[in-house]
Amino acid sequence: MVAESATLLKMTGISKSFAGVKALDQVHLELNKGEVIGLLGENGAGKSTLMKILSGIYTPDTGEIWLENQKLSLRGPRHSQSAGISIIHQELNLLPHLTVAENIFIQSLPQKGIALDKKKLFQDAQQLLDELGFYIHPKTLVGELTVGAQQMVEIAKALSFQSKVIIMDEPTSAITEQETAKLFEIIRSLKAKGIATIYISHRMEEIYEICDRIVVLRDGCNAGEGLSADLKPEQIVRMLVGREMTQIFPQRKGRPGGEVVMEVKDFTRKGVFKNISFRLHKGEILGFSGLMGSGRTELMESVFGMEPVTGGEFMVHGSRVNIRSTQDAIAKGFALVPEDRRKHGLIGHFTVIQNVTIATLKNISGFLQKINFKKEREIADRYIAQLRIKTPSGETVISNLSGGNQQKVIIAKWLESQPRILILDEPTRGIDIGAKAEIYHIIHELAAQGTAIILISSELPEVIGLSDRILVMAGGRITGEFHREEAAPEKIMLCATRGGYT
Ligand SMILES: Nc1ncnc2c1ncn2[C@@H]1O[C@H](COP(=O)(O)OP(=O)(O)OP(=O)(O)O)[C@@H](O)[C@H]1O
Ligand SMILES: [Mg+2]
Repeated sequence: MVAESATLLKMTGISKSFAGVKALDQVHLELNKGEVIGLLGENGAGKSTLMKILSGIYTPDTGEIWLENQKLSLRGPRHSQSAGISIIHQELNLLPHLTVAENIFIQSLPQKGIALDKKKLFQDAQQLLDELGFYIHPKTLVGELTVGAQQMVEIAKALSFQSKVIIMDEPTSAITEQETAKLFEIIRSLKAKGIATIYISHRMEEIYEICDRIVVLRDGCNAGEGLSADLKPEQIVRMLVGREMTQIFPQRKGRPGGEVVMEVKDFTRKGVFKNISFRLHKGEILGFSGLMGSGRTELMESVFGMEPVTGGEFMVHGSRVNIRSTQDAIAKGFALVPEDRRKHGLIGHFTVIQNVTIATLKNISGFLQKINFKKEREIADRYIAQLRIKTPSGETVISNLSGGNQQKVIIAKWLESQPRILILDEPTRGIDIGAKAEIYHIIHELAAQGTAIILISSELPEVIGLSDRILVMAGGRITGEFHREEAAPEKIMLCATRGGYT
């Protein structure tokens, strides 16, 4: 703890509208030296907008920002950075064709004469990555990294400046629990140096673990705040959603039937996963737990025809199949909600309606493929209501939605495709608690109607709360299997860190 509680940062009366949408309305925020605050709010509440104002990306319509008793009139991101504010963005904005090192130091590349000092660049990057304990090679091209690794590069980049305030907008959405622990160590050491952190996350456990104080936004307004030690989870949820929420996980209706809809035997992709065998039953929710890099995402990519396997058998409804492409997989009744939804899931310049219905246009097209726009709108409106997608209308271009609301649209698209086998890879990452509960409810409904579901999730409460059966993966192998009744966090973690049967 830092002894004095000097106010470091003060934002007052901040308002911001986008084309008629009021994103922020007279918001205030205070931050002390060395303090870690959790900035919470539902998807679209205004968190990222407030932080983009603080980091000089947006200009507020009204309001003032004071840093160490000096009024700041931010003229842009670089200005904010030189004033001592750095940000880890929710949407990773790295340059994929440049190396890790270049991305980290993009704003101050070391020079030797007029040329880039490559030696110093890679050395500095290596040193920073070592200090942070991130095992990423500085010479790798960012485009070749997993989302999680890219997120670590984004973190390293923000920490490469001398900052007084560090903003972390959902920094852990794509990293593992171990990496999160590492990040928390970093935040604690920053704190000891008097550096303050604004931490945005939809994960309550993280907020309690790392934040001194919690500030909640709702619909662009301050909805309450308090010390995390004083606030109970129910109180926070009430501030967040503005109503009581008692049950997050729905009661399981019935038991999955006996029919095996899909089976893989000795599925192997050289160097990635090995001898994976499992069965999936009609109406079953089969959870896949494991640390990042355990091979879950890669396994499902092969099931879905995105990457070929080098060995093994694949049966769908009792017959051997060869799925060579995603088209094959879709034709066999599969759907996959990908982990990296920004890359694979969404068409940025399309409207919300178009993004929801794009995979199912044939259902709403009549003679000569003419789209029934009324039906199209009805479908989208149903999901906008059900998943509480915050958007001015269905006609809004999806890239104008907040991060979490974009996610909801992608999920809606696949739910609407009513597949027989639905693979969900981290379906609630970045999604607020109210919508999480809705998504859980829909997953249960689909299972009750007979859809077989594969659920990859790094959040243990989620896999345990939803799955009928859980397979744990580590190092490309299945290292444990638990039925609903016997699943417990400790047992799963033990298998997840076991490192495979070798
Ligand atoms: N560039 C933009 N153009 C139009 N509307 C925008 C723009 N950026 C944000 N908005 C709107 O402002 C509101 C607040 O969005 P913001 O991204 O700040 O939410 P958030 O709290 O960060 O949500 P999430 O948890 O989903 O990331 C939303 O209604 C969003 O649609
Ligand atoms: Mg956001």
